Amino acid sequence: MKKPLILGLETSCDETSAAVVGAGEEIYANIISSQITTHQKFGGVVPEIASRKHLEAVNLVIESALKEAGVGFHDLDAVSVTYGPGLVGALLVGVSAAKALAYALEKPLIAVNHIWGHIYAGFLEHKKLSPPLLVLVVSGGHTNLLYLKAHGELEVLGETRDDAAGEAFDKISRAIGLGYPGGPAVEKAAKLGDPLAIDFPRAWLEEGSMDFSFSGLKSAVLNYINNLRQRNEVVNVYHVAASFQEAVVEVLVEKTLSAVKELDVGEVLLAGGVAANGRLRQELHMRLSEAGRNFYCPSLRLCTDNAAMIACAGYYQYLRRDFASLYLNAVPNLSLI
Ligand code: KG4
Ligand code: ZN
Repeated sequence: MKKPLILGLETSCDETSAAVVGAGEEIYANIISSQITTHQKFGGVVPEIASRKHLEAVNLVIESALKEAGVGFHDLDAVSVTYGPGLVGALLVGVSAAKALAYALEKPLIAVNHIWGHIYAGFLEHKKLSPPLLVLVVSGGHTNLLYLKAHGELEVLGETRDDAAGEAFDKISRAIGLGYPGGPAVEKAAKLGDPLAIDFPRAWLEEGSMDFSFSGLKSAVLNYINNLRQRNEVVNVYHVAASFQEAVVEVLVEKTLSAVKELDVGEVLLAGGVAANGRLRQELHMRLSEAGRNFYCPSLRLCTDNAAMIACAGYYQYLRRDFASLYLNAVPNLSLI
């Protein structure tokens, strides 16, 4: 079995996950216990319930991961864990478990930023991928254009000034009655609608800006729905979903293409939960190929929260001996750099 062998733990939101990954690329196990059905009836993640569910599941997912990988605790070389950003109670479950393991096994503890984890999901599958590269991170809490200069060296080119793309998907999903989690539900509904049916606004911001803004789009969609409802007219949720999704995808794609040209980079990586969106993947792939650039994105299972990406990011920190102390704490609002 390939070395170093890293145990990854992820408990930042509503998935309890443990993974065993060899040399940052060989996934021996990636167990994900999802709390989606628990939170569904509340229309979103309830932090207190999330923490309790993580507590119930954490030891079980660790045991399952080791069993599936066919290894024991003493075969591990390090324990890597998400310490932020995320829900504080949820993060603390993973951080406490990782600290206990690292202490008991006398192995290094590695503190991973969740968003760096999403970026490193790309390195799990694409063995040829290496910095420098442009990264578009689109998740429930982040929308960023980033430049990964070298492993561990990240420059922020642009960020959202208000809502994250995933957050906008979740809010629109709720408004049109599709519930939680919003992204996959909106994408499914969009397949039955016309993306050109409603002309929702695109926020391009100032000339050359690599920042994003989705709150104007969100308000426009909510106003459109409210106006129709006030007039007792039927809202075509399929057209709303398709036209909304098109507006988000268009801005993400155009800004990524501008950044590619401005920086003259040949490699582009898509990361984060919204990277699971088929329309976004398809459009980025097509436009970047036309521009002669290489496009990479993780497979669907690795786009959303999972511990293999945390073990992979942890591996690159392991190589730099970027270890945490046993005083590590959760940092709910941890920044990207
Ligand atoms: O990265 P992630 O799993 O968690 C965070 O770190 O935030 O991202 C979750 C976000 C949610 O907002 C969810 O609605 C969105 O990713 N998402 C999608 C899709 N799958 C998940 N958005 C659009 N289309 C999808 N297929
Ligand atoms: Zn995430």
